[in-house]
Amino acid sequence: MVDRNGWGRDRPVLTGSPHSPPSSFVEQANVTDPGIYETFEEQWPECWERAADLLSWDRPYETVLEDDDAPFYRWFSDGSLNASANCLDRHLEAGRKTHTAIRWEGKHGERETYTYRDLYVAVNEFAAALRDLGVEEDDVVTIYLPMIPELPIAMLACARIGAPHSVVFAGLSADALATRMDAADSEFLLTCDGYYRRGDAFNQKSKADNAQLKLDQDVRTVVVDRLGDDLPHVLGDDEHDYHDLLETFGGETVDPVPRDAEDMLFLMYTSGTTGEPKGVVHTTGGYLAHAAWTTHAVLDVKPEDTYWCAADIGWITGHSYIVYGPLALGTTTVMYEGTPDYPDRDRLWEIVDRNAVDIFYTAPTAVRAFMKWGAKYPERHDLSSLRLLGTVGEPISPRPWQWYYEHIGDERCPVVDTWWQTETGAVTISTLPGIDEMKPGAAGPGLPGTDARIVDDDGIEVDPGESGYLTLARPWPGMARTLYDGDERFRTEYWDRFSDPDDDEWRYFSGDAARVDEDGYITVLGRVDDVINVAGRRLSTTEIESAVTDVGGVAEAAVVGRSSETNGTDVCVYVSTESGYDDDGAVREAIVDSIEASIGAIARPTTVLFTPELPKTRSGKIMRRLLEDVANGEELGDTSALRNPEIIGEIQAEIHDR
Ligand code: PRX
Repeated sequence: MVDRNGWGRDRPVLTGSPHSPPSSFVEQANVTDPGIYETFEEQWPECWERAADLLSWDRPYETVLEDDDAPFYRWFSDGSLNASANCLDRHLEAGRKTHTAIRWEGKHGERETYTYRDLYVAVNEFAAALRDLGVEEDDVVTIYLPMIPELPIAMLACARIGAPHSVVFAGLSADALATRMDAADSEFLLTCDGYYRRGDAFNQKSKADNAQLKLDQDVRTVVVDRLGDDLPHVLGDDEHDYHDLLETFGGETVDPVPRDAEDMLFLMYTSGTTGEPKGVVHTTGGYLAHAAWTTHAVLDVKPEDTYWCAADIGWITGHSYIVYGPLALGTTTVMYEGTPDYPDRDRLWEIVDRNAVDIFYTAPTAVRAFMKWGAKYPERHDLSSLRLLGTVGEPISPRPWQWYYEHIGDERCPVVDTWWQTETGAVTISTLPGIDEMKPGAAGPGLPGTDARIVDDDGIEVDPGESGYLTLARPWPGMARTLYDGDERFRTEYWDRFSDPDDDEWRYFSGDAARVDEDGYITVLGRVDDVINVAGRRLSTTEIESAVTDVGGVAEAAVVGRSSETNGTDVCVYVSTESGYDDDGAVREAIVDSIEASIGAIARPTTVLFTPELPKTRSGKIMRRLLEDVANGEELGDTSALRNPEIIGEIQAEIHDR
């Protein structure tokens, strides 16, 4: 077991004073019966019908859970449904066609509104276009788009025809896109000419073109013209203009393909402990049920709400809580293309105010930035429409939690700190805002129907207050079914560590460390593997290291996480060079460029430290754990077992001022 990061960095020392949910909130909450925990316990696994019954099924399911091939669980497996029909058609049939589905806010103040009818039309037209391009059921369609409406439209169009989508975050590099398309054997790509980054036009198509040069397969590409004359582009062979296609297929409708509950809905690549990203497979029934249920029960979304999850659809949060969860419930989901500080630091609050947003969900890294900027920005706006606040993606310490609660929520809105992962599909640990007390710094108990346990190295549950590994001892509907790269890797990555197959005892291992208190509230402490969480985004240190060692002149490298006030963790690179090379600025620049080329700007290091050698054990293993402690100014244990202990003092002196 790799335990490079100890028990996590951003550990809140203590949880803050508890808050009861405000009564004005409780009176209207979707879920208010405290008995739900016990009921779900008694009725497990049938309790999850509550989630599945939020959906419309083409063929009703009879079996809730099949567990005879654990850990390859199957949920609602004899049922069939279509995710796009659940997000669109049924709302039209219910007479809600003029209700707003998506409110899009562009980077430069542009606005677009899609009613459910508008969205239905666009999705159908694009589904017809995809079919015409040759996309068949089960073909993987890669989508490489920024936060523009065409992104959710394309996802739903894929879902409509039963083609799994694989959305690649637009900020990832050409290499990262190529790796993902190659791994998924994807022959279809939707991208755009470019997008605005702050004031500038940024070329996305050239990245997509470069990616294709690295692929063996022929790719059919659709290009959205986002920038018009600001960035002219030319279409090559087998490249099609998105808007021309919509015009060609104007008014066409495509019957939603009934999918078995266990058919794949999408693939989402995420960082793992090796350099190879993992293709997490989510299926149609269980995922959609879990996403819809948690949008209802945890985020308290109602169809008449204006709800805003300020994440990017390129990651799982946006899949579950900008697209599938809210649209399945028929609410209005806000989609924002820009950043929180452009053109000014009150941009988000201006959007909340103008749209009378009811629910706001964001990452702790954003909350820490708001706190740093100060209360004057939210105070410029009327935020009284807000009813509930949420966070996701990283631990939130009590201080930013409290700031969010007071300055954004006016002590009137519950704050849900939701723990989950790409692999869990949807929220797994959180308070239920209409029932549970909130404890700043703790996510809360496992949701009803889940069984979160904090265990030691032997899989034995630790006592309250002690740290251990966060595991889930029962399956849940939104869980990843496997990895696209193979069942074997799925088992080794998540199940082997704490399961006992001989006893048919299966434990999912999250890769996180956590602690539980006397009331069952879980504080998640951070990753214990080679994954670091930079501003809420998951990066593999191994993957970054391999980009660094690709650079000419680099002999060895170690990448660790370094605590940062705003990002939670920053990327810190230690390098030793081959003789003849030194820290002349050119190598440093080449390292940063290589990381950006192989992953993207999100992995850009804040510290690159050159050292004559890296600290190693006598057997030659680089002591990354120690380097992490050095980067974070922590007390170091005994270093005498190192082959070269003297190097530590040199590195400490160097890193001190950075
Ligand atoms: O370390 C945990 C952290 O984010 C990881 C999952 O990252 P990803 O798959 O990219 O999904 C992020 C959005 C769901 C987890 O292993 N994490 C997520 N939520 C929390 C968290 N850490 C602490 N508290 C949370 N609420």
